[in-house]
Formats: sequence, structure tokens, C-alpha cells
Amino acid sequence: MHCFKSTIGAQTALWMLAGLASSPACCAEAAGSIIVKFSHVVAPDTPKGKGVEYFRKLVEERSRGRVKVEVYPNSQLYKDKEELEALQLGSVQMLAPSVSKFGPMGLKAFEVFDLPYLFGNYDAVHEVTHGPVGRSMLERLASYGMVGLALWDNGFKEFTANRPLRRPEDFRGLKMRVKSSKVLEAQMRALGAIPQVLAFSDVYQALQTGVVDGAENTPVNIYTQKFHEVQKVLSMSHHGYDAYVIVVNRKFWDSLPPDVRALLEQAMIDATRYVDGISAQAEVDAIDAIRRSGRIQVVNLTAEERLSLKEAMQPVYRQMEGRIGADVVASVRAAAAGSGRDRTGAMPALPAAAR
Ligand code: LMR
Repeated sequence: MHCFKSTIGAQTALWMLAGLASSPACCAEAAGSIIVKFSHVVAPDTPKGKGVEYFRKLVEERSRGRVKVEVYPNSQLYKDKEELEALQLGSVQMLAPSVSKFGPMGLKAFEVFDLPYLFGNYDAVHEVTHGPVGRSMLERLASYGMVGLALWDNGFKEFTANRPLRRPEDFRGLKMRVKSSKVLEAQMRALGAIPQVLAFSDVYQALQTGVVDGAENTPVNIYTQKFHEVQKVLSMSHHGYDAYVIVVNRKFWDSLPPDVRALLEQAMIDATRYVDGISAQAEVDAIDAIRRSGRIQVVNLTAEERLSLKEAMQPVYRQMEGRIGADVVASVRAAAAGSGRDRTGAMPALPAAAR
């Protein structure tokens, strides 16, 4: 595997080949129950962790044990990049990576979600993730040896660092951790920061040892990974949104009996409703828990300060439109606008606890 990791070109070839040539650990029904290994990188006590567990429970109950879902949280099986490779090779059957992690394999359209201040609120997000635009994005996965089942909320992101980040000048020269997304790199550069791509499982130590000065993440991830214990200030920028893509190895999926596929699909619809129903409250609860911990200063930005960040990041749209696809950006914006609210120039609605 190492030889494939050295260049982007070779790695892209791996993605393409794996879809054709892999022999997933599937088709196990003859040998007993069907095993679905589901790996993810966050804590069990997060909306994603709970959603995967909910999915497992539904599948095992409804199939009466015919399908077994083995859940591996917290990067215990694979880290970010490795988990996508493992899925391609069939070593694991299901994953739920962030949209920001598909760019390196050539799936740049998902980086649309990384555009700063794209969504005003969860209603706008769900117009995209629960609708035809989200569905057509999931269909792009087919030629990469994957089937996309759903998009789940991770949530709105805030910045952490060892100083308040209120305005673009506060970012100057800071090394900021980003996921493997060119849009996120461009966002940090637009703010005058230096982006550093790191796997999620490496972030705590990098923050603790000063390998990076700061990061962006959702309050739930900040709290459950204890980033607030190794950073001095949480700045409530609410500057972006992150979604998860629930993916299955395509060969495995195609090999399943049709009734099992239908059962998994229905369980995923129910799990999606569950996750997207708890995420906004989980965000509020995490902000509250971070405040109560007393380990970090929580700084609320004024509307004017948030506007200064938004304006500084605006060039990212023009810079990245070609990469993402102008049609993708336009379709996501149009769908988000369909939530019926006028968000022109508006700032994202912060959860009550963050105001
Ligand atoms: C991150 O890498 O910061 C997140 O994508 C982790 C996750 O899966 O929520």
C-alpha cells in the first residue's frame, strides 16, 4: 500500500482500481451472518457515534441477526485517509467521513460544503442534504467503487486557538489545522493563516505540543476530543458547516440480497432522521459543556466582527469555483435558498447558548 501513497496520481489510480479489482470481505451469508464493519473517527458520544450505533441496532433487530454491524469508533481501526483506502479495498464495508475528506481521491464536488458562510442554518443545510442536490452528489461516488447512502449533519464550525480570533488580522501567521480540503486551505490562507492538513486523530497532540496553533471544528468534536483543554480560546465564528457522507463498498453492496439492501436502506433513512434530529441540540449542549468546564475562554463575536471574517473569506468562492464546479456551487446555493428564508447578507443563526 505504501507505494500508492507517495503521489496523488498514484493514489487516484488506487481509488479507481480498487473499485474494479478489490475483493471485499463480503458475501458472507453462506458462511453465517452478513458482517458489516463500520469504522469512524469520532467518539461514540457524538451524533455520528450515536447514529452509527442506532443504525447497528435497527439493522440487527430488523434482520433478526442475519446482518451484524461491527462498529469501530475513534479511529481505532483506521485514521482518516486509511479508512477510505480500506473501504476501497473491502477491508471495511461502511464509513461516515466528513465531506472534506473526498477531495484527494478526485471527488472535489463535496468540498462545496467547505465554502465559508454557505449555509445560514440547519434548515438551509437540509434543503441540500435531504433533497435532490444531495442525492445527485451521492451518485458521484459510484465511479469510485462506493455507494453513497446519506448525508448526516456534523454541524457548524468554530475556531479555537490560544488567542481570540475576532478579525482577519488575528489569524496572521497562525498555523491552523484543516482537513484534506483545498477549500479549507484556501479559507485559512484568505484569513492570513497557514493551513496544515492533519488527520483528526492527530489533532489533539498537535494542538497540545504546538505543532499547530489552532483549528476549526464543531463544538461536539471540540468537546469530545478535549481540544478545549489544549487551546486557550474558542471564538464563536460559526463560519462553516460540515457534513458526513455515509458510504458503502460498492462490490459489497451489489453482492447483498435485495431484501437486505432494502433493510439497510430503510435503517439508514431512520438513522439519518435520528442524527439530523439531535445534531443542533448536541451543538448547544457541547458549547454549554465547554463553557462550564472552565478550561477555555469562550469569545462571542459581534456581528461586525463576523462580517469582517466573512468578507475576508469571500475570495475563496471565486478561487475554488473551478475546482468544485460552478454548477455544483450554484445548485447548492439555489437549494439552500429554498428553505424560504432570506439569508442574503445574513449571519448564521447561532444556537441560543452561543449568543
Ligand atoms: C475532522 O477531521 O475534524 C472531522 O471530520 C472528524 C469527524 O469525523 O467529525
